[in-house]
Amino acid sequence: MTLDRLDAALGPLPRVALGTWPTPLVPLPRLGEALGIDLWVKRDECSGLALGGNKARKLEFVLGEALAAGARTIVTAGPLTSNHTMMTAAAARRLGLDVHVVLGGDAPAQATGNLALTHLYGAHVHVTPMNTANPSAADLATSRGLCERIVRETGGYWIPPGATMPSSVPGYAACVREIVEQQAGRFPFDVVLVAYGTGSTSAGLYAGLALAGIPATVQAVAVSSRAAMDRFAASPPTTLVQAAIELYGWPLDLAQSTTRCVWERPVDEPGYGIETPASQAALRRVARDEGYLLDPTYTAKAAAALIAMAGDGRIAAGARVLFMHTGGLSTTAAAQAH
Ligand SMILES: Cc1ncc(COP(=O)(O)O)c(C=O)c1O
Repeated sequence: MTLDRLDAALGPLPRVALGTWPTPLVPLPRLGEALGIDLWVKRDECSGLALGGNKARKLEFVLGEALAAGARTIVTAGPLTSNHTMMTAAAARRLGLDVHVVLGGDAPAQATGNLALTHLYGAHVHVTPMNTANPSAADLATSRGLCERIVRETGGYWIPPGATMPSSVPGYAACVREIVEQQAGRFPFDVVLVAYGTGSTSAGLYAGLALAGIPATVQAVAVSSRAAMDRFAASPPTTLVQAAIELYGWPLDLAQSTTRCVWERPVDEPGYGIETPASQAALRRVARDEGYLLDPTYTAKAAAALIAMAGDGRIAAGARVLFMHTGGLSTTAAAQAH
C-alpha cells in the first residue's frame, strides 16, 4: 500500500466542506460472529449533511467543481423519494446557491419524507410522471427533456441523478484515505460491500483502493431491476473510474491493479424501492442484533446480499468485511415499523 498516489490524486481538486469527518468505523460483533466473518460498518449515515448519507462525500467534490466553474444555480434529478436530490438541495443552500430538482413519480397530495425535506430546503421542485420502481424509456426521456430545458433557461450547473459523474468519484476515494487514517495506516478489510444505485459510491471506493494499491474487493450490490438498469444504461464502476482517470490524468492502470470490483446486474431484483422478504429480514436483524438502523431502499438490500453471500461462501469464512452504511434514513423514518 502507498498513499502517495492517492494523496496526489485528490490534493489538487476543488472541494467544499459539507460533511463531518471522520464518520465512525465500528465492528458489528454479533452479526459478524453469526455470519462467520469479521464484520465492520462505516457509518456514513452520520455524514453530517441533512440527515446523513453518501451524497455528502460526492457533493464536496462535485460542488467544489461547480463553484470553481462559477455556478450560481444547481439542477439535478431523481425519483420522488430521492436522497440525492434532498441532500443536493441542502448542500446548495449551505453554499448559498439556488437549486432546481426534477423528480420522477406521482406528486402526492401531501409531501412526506425526502420530498417534504426538499421543499423545506427551498428547492424549485418539478415533478414528471414515472413508475419509479421500473421506469419506462419514455418517462426517462420526458424527465431528461425537462432537465435540459431548466438547465438552458437557468444557466444552471447540471448534476446527474446520484451525482454520478466523473467528478464525484474522488468523494469515496477520499473515504478510503479516511479509513486508513482511522486504522492507524492500514486498510484491514478484504471485502467492501456497498449498495449500487447509480454507481459512483462503488466507483469512488474502487478508485481510492486502486490508487492506494490496496488488494481488496469492492462488492457492489445493485438495488434496481435488471431491466431498469438497462434502461438507465447503468455501467460497471470500472467505466466511471476510467472516466475519472481520463478527466484528472491519474496515473492508474486498472488492468494492472490488484484491487477488484465485482458488479452484477441481478436477475431476481424486483425493482428500485420494492422491499423483499430478505431485505426486510436484514433490516430487522441489524436493528435487533446491533442496534443500527438501515434504510429499505439501499442498505437493507445490501445487508441482505451480505447475509446471503456469507451464508453460501461467496464471502469466505473469516473474511474481514466492511459494510458501507450509505444513509437513506429519512425513508426508514417515514416508513411504517415492520
Ligand atoms: C442511501 C443510499 N445508499 C446508496 C446509494 C447508492 O449510491 P450510488 O448511487 O453511488 O450507487 C444511494 C443513492 O443512489 C443512496 O441514497
